[in-house]
Amino acid sequence: MRYYVMTLFPELIDKGMHTGVLYRAMEEGILSLDCFHIREYTESRHKRVDDYTYGGGAGMLIQCQPVYDCYRAVIDTIAKRAAQEGKSTGKKRVIYLTPQGRVFDQALAEELAKEDDLIFLCGHYEGIDERVLEEIVTDNVSIGDYVLTGGELPALVMMDSISRLIPGVLNNDESATTESFNEGLLEYPQYTRPEEWMGKKVPEILLSGDHAKVDRWRLLQSLERTKDRRPDLYEEYERTHAEELAVLRKKLEKERKKLERQQKNG
Ligand code: 6GU
Repeated sequence: MRYYVMTLFPELIDKGMHTGVLYRAMEEGILSLDCFHIREYTESRHKRVDDYTYGGGAGMLIQCQPVYDCYRAVIDTIAKRAAQEGKSTGKKRVIYLTPQGRVFDQALAEELAKEDDLIFLCGHYEGIDERVLEEIVTDNVSIGDYVLTGGELPALVMMDSISRLIPGVLNNDESATTESFNEGLLEYPQYTRPEEWMGKKVPEILLSGDHAKVDRWRLLQSLERTKDRRPDLYEEYERTHAEELAVLRKKLEKERKKLERQQKNG
């Protein structure tokens, strides 16, 4: 995966991508990151990139020219690299980070992880002149229903979650832990040593060594936790996993009855 980020704060993007896992993946060539500083592409003598909005109103808007020329530079870079590798380039997705976009989720992360190149456009101030957005943007994406000062943190959020889906970025141990969210449930609670802390004991079943029982306990915990904390996700899971849930409930009922009989018989 090659990331290209158009931004007025390239140092923020560079620093944000210098975390352990992502940095190692970049060193290994699994990921690459190129920041394009929008200000470097302005034709204005004073290096201005913004101006007042037509029609009035508060705040400044980033102008078309620096954004478009910056975009051309990204496209040229992608084309040159492809030529060097003797490959052809298809249509590139250009993601504009905006609270007005489609809300980013795991499904979109998975879809974007299949691309060879992704271009991010980070806005600031009151935004960017609509005309250049119409010309270059393929995807408007938001990271949630709250307002931020710029698109850099959302771009970092997206690159983080997309990167961990790319083969070789995480080691196998880490990859395994992603499965539960992919299934649409929240992660079950986890414990490490000591067995008792401040009077709180690790659930007995996790010490039993019975893997089938542990798996079932974890699934039940995931279900309960999802129902409690994210009823929206739980509803969706019930809808899409009805058969599995029916089998599980039957099994639990059987076990409950077995326990009842055992207790009755002393
Ligand atoms: Cl992508 N940008 C900005 N400026 N604010 C946001 C956002 C994006 N997503 C949520 N809030």
